[in-house]
Amino acid sequence: MQSERNLKATIDPSAPAAPAQPLLFTPITLRGLTARNRIVVSPMSQYAAVNGEPTDWHLVHLGKFAMGGAGIVFVEETSVEERARKTYHCPGIYTDAQAKAWRRITDFLRSQGALSAIQLGHAGRKVATKAPWDGFSPLSDDDAKNGEPPWQGVAPSPIPFKPGATIPIEMDHDDIKAVIQSHVDACRRSLDAGFDICEIHGAHGYIIQQFLSPITNKRNDGYGGDIQGRMRFALELVEAARAAWPKDQPLFFRSSCVDGKGGAWTLDDTVVLAGELKARGVDVIDCSSGGIEGPLTLAVVPRVPGYHVPFADRIRRDVGIPTMAVGLITEAAQAERYLAEGRCDLIALAREMMWNPNWPAHAAQALNGPDPLALVPPSYAWWLRRRDEVRKQYPTGLEKI
Ligand SMILES: Cc1cc2nc3c(=O)[nH]c(=O)nc-3n(C[C@H](O)[C@H](O)[C@H](O)COP(=O)(O)O)c2cc1C
Repeated sequence: MQSERNLKATIDPSAPAAPAQPLLFTPITLRGLTARNRIVVSPMSQYAAVNGEPTDWHLVHLGKFAMGGAGIVFVEETSVEERARKTYHCPGIYTDAQAKAWRRITDFLRSQGALSAIQLGHAGRKVATKAPWDGFSPLSDDDAKNGEPPWQGVAPSPIPFKPGATIPIEMDHDDIKAVIQSHVDACRRSLDAGFDICEIHGAHGYIIQQFLSPITNKRNDGYGGDIQGRMRFALELVEAARAAWPKDQPLFFRSSCVDGKGGAWTLDDTVVLAGELKARGVDVIDCSSGGIEGPLTLAVVPRVPGYHVPFADRIRRDVGIPTMAVGLITEAAQAERYLAEGRCDLIALAREMMWNPNWPAHAAQALNGPDPLALVPPSYAWWLRRRDEVRKQYPTGLEKI
């Protein structure tokens, strides 16, 4: 359908050298897959799923990013089991019906030239909440009266995530095995659903980070204590997921590179973790922050443009693993600079893509890169080229006319 698109870059050695391409638009090959550019749509929870299944909302929300030219489109955090959801309206991939509903979306993303990526998540203790615009507050008796009773999460230690939240069940070794197995099952279903890339959500205070952080992990068995013990759950989970995910498809890991003010989880810790993840076949570290200590992290990671780039930079250099930077990256030249400085390999955007889903095409124009209209559907490009021909006749500016 979209004949202008070609995901796989074919290289003819006898062909004349092409003009220099902005790095943002240089294809990247990860294992057996090549994304057409370095622009990634970061996961964005929508609170719009029904019975854990994505709906028309998700098709339109995600589809427009692929139509706008992104190389990789992430769907939102998707739960590996029912009790792992943050809210009743979060999607999952723990039933065949959910996998089928995602298939419609991955098919569409592929038809528009983007790779599709799923972020697998388990909220652990951070479950049974309202939406962000209701402060992520714990569900209450009033919600129960409206058919949404709170439920109990699971966690390394029985510590609620905020006052008023239910106390999570402290996981025994069978629970740990079951959660790892639910990730394995989710990998298999994600494959059935047609996803190209799988990301394990190890950030934002969810179950993996609950094990990593000494604030939420008070265990004295082999899954707690020093950093080796606290990393054990993450590493066993990633090993199992890697074994379940095809060798020729990339596996990402989202990390909260630092959390909190008190040095509870530091960038040095993340460098150690990233080295272990690399050894277990993780292909990209997706660099984020925070989640256990909430607003306290803001003191360590002020929200300035490109606020996670220093983390992506350090991990890339120290560990020798590709990294993805995210966080207030809004300008094409800004993104290009981070890549040119060798600080990251992929550029992820969330809120800017909500504002302008055609950001990749606009960035191509701003960087004098590839034909921006080659990034939008041919049926749009045909009309837009004609429109540009008329606009070119008025070089001094249409605003005066
Ligand atoms: C609406 C919305 C939903 C989000 N949902 C998720 C999510 O499901 N998983 C996740 O890891 N991050 C989530 N995030 C964080 C983004 O992926 C991203 O890291 C963050 O917004 C910073 O990037 P930005 O400045 O480009 O928005 C969400 C952000 C937004 C704005």
